[in-house]
Amino acid sequence: MAKMVIDPWSSNIPEDYKKIADKFGLEKFNIEEFPEPNLLMSRGIVFSGRDLKIISKCIKEKKPFYVLTGIMPTADKLHFGTKSVIDQVIYFQKNGAETYVLVADLEAAATRGISLKEAKKRAMEIHIPCYIALGLDPKKTKFYFQSENDEVRNLSYVLSRKATLNEYKAIYGNAEPARIMSSILQVSDILHPQLKKKMPGIIPIGIDQDPHIRLSRDIAKRAHEFNFFLPSSIYHKFVPDLSGNLKMSKSEGNSLYLLDTDEEIKKKVSKALTGGQKTLDEQKKKGGNPDKDMLFELFKQHLITDDKELEKRIKDYKSGKILDSENKEYAIKLLQKYMKDFREKYNEARKDVDKYLD
Ligand code: TRP
Repeated sequence: MAKMVIDPWSSNIPEDYKKIADKFGLEKFNIEEFPEPNLLMSRGIVFSGRDLKIISKCIKEKKPFYVLTGIMPTADKLHFGTKSVIDQVIYFQKNGAETYVLVADLEAAATRGISLKEAKKRAMEIHIPCYIALGLDPKKTKFYFQSENDEVRNLSYVLSRKATLNEYKAIYGNAEPARIMSSILQVSDILHPQLKKKMPGIIPIGIDQDPHIRLSRDIAKRAHEFNFFLPSSIYHKFVPDLSGNLKMSKSEGNSLYLLDTDEEIKKKVSKALTGGQKTLDEQKKKGGNPDKDMLFELFKQHLITDDKELEKRIKDYKSGKILDSENKEYAIKLLQKYMKDFREKYNEARKDVDKYLD
């Protein structure tokens, strides 16, 4: 059997989530263990993780734990996939986690050639205000830049002693220097909150980032002198773009971005891949297929929060009562409303962004 590796820096996304979960020994996400699950959890978008029990225990017993994630500032737009990551961070923040969100500017410099200056500008003008507009509580979140965090960088040198070349080849299939530096730094991002306080931590990310979690756990195990808890992780499915590509991409396809204008929304939604039939008559007779419909994917993951409303729409689409044109109109309306509100919060957050960084 061909060896399977996930390349976290490629945009090829694993098609079959279950296969990946089995192959790499991920746990199935069990919703019963998490109080007041968010939409991504209750709708089956969150599907697996590592060491989730220790985190649910911290939540239930009100013990300290942290949530941490990082995002590369590779683009000056954020797509809806970023909303999923931040939604997950918000869930754990609301449930008592100390919260860290970092700008992976050194990783972007090493792996994508983005200057630190450009990254800083993007993060301050777009990324961080967007995270706040999505609902992250800025007063309870520690934001940092990899390039400005000495503690994290210094830890990465210490931890580099714990990794081997063979391990790199096994995990990543590759050991280019830029990747070695970025992944050790990420391990250090992930573990550093424990330098101050020994506590479990959870890392919400896309499944493409699991190799870094495996490396972090291996290194944490070997770094006896630190006595680290192995980091937990939680994975959600990607938000597909409107043309049906599994992951929204910053460069191709038909992706929706946070802060898109009314016109952009209209244009993109009207070209969306739907589960409709070839002709109107056929659709009225046979109904559409919501499972192949990108608008339903958006309704389910982000736009329709009321379960009953969603169920009814699915039923009516399947029966042919709701047609594509109506569905598109509704998606446009919901998205425009969402974006209007989002834009206001973003403008507010932007004014104060300096205050949130120390
Ligand atoms: N590698 C992540 C990305 O490609 C960014 C990242 C850096 C990160 N450090 C992290 C994610 C720590 C989670 C935890 O976007």
